[in-house]
Parts: sequence; structure tokens; C-alpha cells
Amino acid sequence: MDFKDKKILITGGSSGIGKAIVKLLIQKGTNNIAIFGRKTAPMKELKTEFSSVNFLLIQGDVSNPEDLEKAISQITRQWGELDILINNAGVVSADLLSQSSDEDIIKQINVNLT
Ligand SMILES: NC(=O)c1ccc[n+]([C@@H]2O[C@H](COP(=O)([O-])OP(=O)(O)OC[C@H]3O[C@@H](n4cnc5c(N)ncnc54)[C@H](OP(=O)(O)O)[C@@H]3O)[C@@H](O)[C@H]2O)c1
Repeated sequence: MDFKDKKILITGGSSGIGKAIVKLLIQKGTNNIAIFGRKTAPMKELKTEFSSVNFLLIQGDVSNPEDLEKAISQITRQWGELDILINNAGVVSADLLSQSSDEDIIKQINVNLT
């Protein structure tokens, strides 16, 4: 697949597997990459690291519907459309189920799935 002219949004693209995907996309010539995450500092670091890429940085929490609406507005306003969504953002708590709070389990499901 040719990724060169694609407008791609990757959630959690600022670290781990997400950042590795971002690097791969850049190697394949992608120029327009939107990153969605809670912390702005690591997203800004991407801009510095890959200064030739047109990054769209979107601060928000994937489990918060209002943040998702804001992300859609920002992308529509700046790009008009999106070609590819990479739903990568995720969390995992390695605690025993018996030691996990309901709140934590629900949060994980909301981030990873909903
Ligand atoms: N690494 C592995 O070996 C492995 C194996 C199997 C599955 N996985 C799964 O693959 C996914 C990525 O793993 P990883 O190791 O790359 O994790 P990671 O290094 O912790 O990266 C997670 C990314 O997701 C973002 N993120 C987390 N919660 C978010 C939220 N509520 N809203 C928006 N962004 C959020 C983080 O940015 P912010 O903190 O700035 O929001 C970060 O950029 C996870 O679902 C993980 O469980 C990983």
C-alpha cells in the first residue's frame, strides 16, 4: 500500500508501539500524521525529532467522548478528511483481578475498546 499521500491518525503515537509505527510510516514517505494522546510533551518531541513531517498534535483522552469530538473537529478543520485511523492507544494493569478496582477495569475497557 502506498502511504505517501495518506492522512493518518494514530492514537498513542507518542511512545512504544505507536511511535514505532510512526517511524515506519515516515520511512514509507507519509507526510501527514496526526497524533492523539494525553501528554503533550512527548508529542512535541516527535515534531522536533521528525521536523520535515506535518504533524497534527491532538491532546485528549480516547476514553472521553468530548475529546474524541474535539479531535474530529480539529482534523476536519485542518485536513478536511482522514484516510487511515490506527487505533493503537492502550493501557494494561497487571494487577490481580481481585486487587483491581472496578473503576480501573472500566477505565481500561473504555481506553482499549470502547
Ligand atoms: N508493548 C507490548 O509488548 C504489548 C504487547 C501486547 C499488547 N500491547 C498493547 O499495545 C498497546 C500499546 O502498547 P505500548 O507498549 O506501545 O504502550 P505505551 O508505550 O504505554 O504507549 C501507550 C500510548 O497510548 C497513549 N495512551 C494511553 N492511554 C491513553 C488515553 N486514555 N488516551 C489517549 N492516549 C492514550 C499514551 O500516550 P499518553 O500517555 O500521552 O496518553 C502512549 O502514547 C497497549 O494497548 C498495550 O496494552 C503492548
